[in-house]
Amino acid sequence: MAVVQERELLCKDWLKTPKKLLIDGKWVDAQGGKTFETRNPADDEVLARVAEGSKEDADKAVKAARKAYEEGPWRKMAPAERARLLYKLADELEKRADEFAQLETLDNGKPIKESRWVDLPQAVETFRYYAGWCTKLEGETINVNSNFFTYTLREPVGVVAQIIPWNFPLLMAAWKLGPALACGNTLVLKPAEQTPLTALRLGELICEVGFPPGVVNIVTGFGPDAAGEALSKHMDVDKVAFTGEDKTGRLIVQASTGNLKRVSLELGGKAPNIVFADADIDAAVKGAITGIFFNQGQVCCAGSRLFLEKSIHDEFMTKLTDRVSKMRQGPGLDEKTQIGPQVSREQVERIMGYVQAGQKEGAKLVCGGERPQGDLAKGYFVKPTIFDGVNNNMKIAQEEIFGPVLSVLPFSSMEEVAEQANKVIFGLSGAVWTRDIKKAHKLAAHIKAGTVWINCFNVFDPQVPFGGYKMSGYGRELGKHSIELYTNVKSVWVNVAE
Ligand code: NAI
Ligand code: MG
Repeated sequence: MAVVQERELLCKDWLKTPKKLLIDGKWVDAQGGKTFETRNPADDEVLARVAEGSKEDADKAVKAARKAYEEGPWRKMAPAERARLLYKLADELEKRADEFAQLETLDNGKPIKESRWVDLPQAVETFRYYAGWCTKLEGETINVNSNFFTYTLREPVGVVAQIIPWNFPLLMAAWKLGPALACGNTLVLKPAEQTPLTALRLGELICEVGFPPGVVNIVTGFGPDAAGEALSKHMDVDKVAFTGEDKTGRLIVQASTGNLKRVSLELGGKAPNIVFADADIDAAVKGAITGIFFNQGQVCCAGSRLFLEKSIHDEFMTKLTDRVSKMRQGPGLDEKTQIGPQVSREQVERIMGYVQAGQKEGAKLVCGGERPQGDLAKGYFVKPTIFDGVNNNMKIAQEEIFGPVLSVLPFSSMEEVAEQANKVIFGLSGAVWTRDIKKAHKLAAHIKAGTVWINCFNVFDPQVPFGGYKMSGYGRELGKHSIELYTNVKSVWVNVAE
């Protein structure tokens, strides 16, 4: 059996070490020695106890980041040196990819195949991509008139707080740290309380490769009334970058008003995944499955609303349910697992609440809709679930479920589907499956979302910007666009008049 056995766990010894906060280059206990536990979603066992950062700890971390920004070697360091550090970090992470993948799977639950072959390589490439940016940040000279020599400087924003979720713990850390460090900021990272482990292990690599103390601080702990909230309110934080729930996003914006810190938000989604009758149906079936079941549906850009043109509906549903019923559900550490547990008990309850809502509103439950019994009963598992005959006004078509629950909505015309696609509060992503390039590009332009995939789904690259329209947030991560998030532009006027 290809399950990773306990003796093969590369992170086994590391799990036993104390999990502290990284402040000013040192690993320290939380104030009062407080800790919280993080559990394995596959079996509900405690994996480790982790320092529970308080408001005071967040404040200490901000002070360290400020000192490192104003006084440390970081600001004076040549961009090429910053690049070397980021490349080194990427290399060290790559060397330990197996260990990190296991740790991610233990803490988050996701299938090891995904953590090893998606999260890890993407995180490594994100650091590499942004390492390249260190030496490419440039200002401009602007010819105003002969009396002035005028130029712009692109400067770091300063001290950045980065609050990240649990669905891609390490990858979200890479998306946040990569550009912030490339641009010369210092930062405080607050990992999600459900999945703090890979960020802490990354913190060790950050210290090892030689980032100066205080440049990266890591405060594990909770959000409301705790480290997360303290960071978003902090008067000496220049920018907060957040990924998570739309409701939390609103709180972050409110908390930012004290010092009007800059905010970027990557929030929820309810993506339309639109399949026309002229599409490659087998490819679209696979795309629908990846679209909703990848990472147990805990993906902000998940294709949770599958729009099927009526003439292919029956054929498509037969193929879809056939494949989904054969998906192997199990612990993430089993190499054969295709769908693992949800991240937490809370998320399972939330998802099951949506399943009930779907049934109540009259959607047709085609498969799943329950929790597996037997060996998996201890873990936070939900069977892959499909609702057919969904109407776009139903709760399951409007709200982000963030679980393995697909809503299928039949449609009859381009006009109808175009209208329905945008009838949600979110606008993070969407997809179109068709062989007709006119239809594809028309819809790509029409869909109000930051990403549109044509004849594919969930494709990512650090070079390509990602972010939301509407209530999916603002600001673009990845690509050159995240340089905007982490820099300020200064105009300098020099009087050269005779
Ligand atoms: P959340 O938005 O509450 O948590 C994300 C991060 O924000 C965590 O690090 C958390 O500690 C922090 N946080 C929470 N409240 C905060 C506050 N008041 N101030 C500062 N930081 C705070 O998300 P949660 O509760 O874990 O999940 C609930 C729902 O959010 C999910 O069911 C899903 O719909 C959505 N979600 C969306 C994500 C995305 O990638 N867009 C990621 C995670 C959750
Ligand atoms: Mg929350």
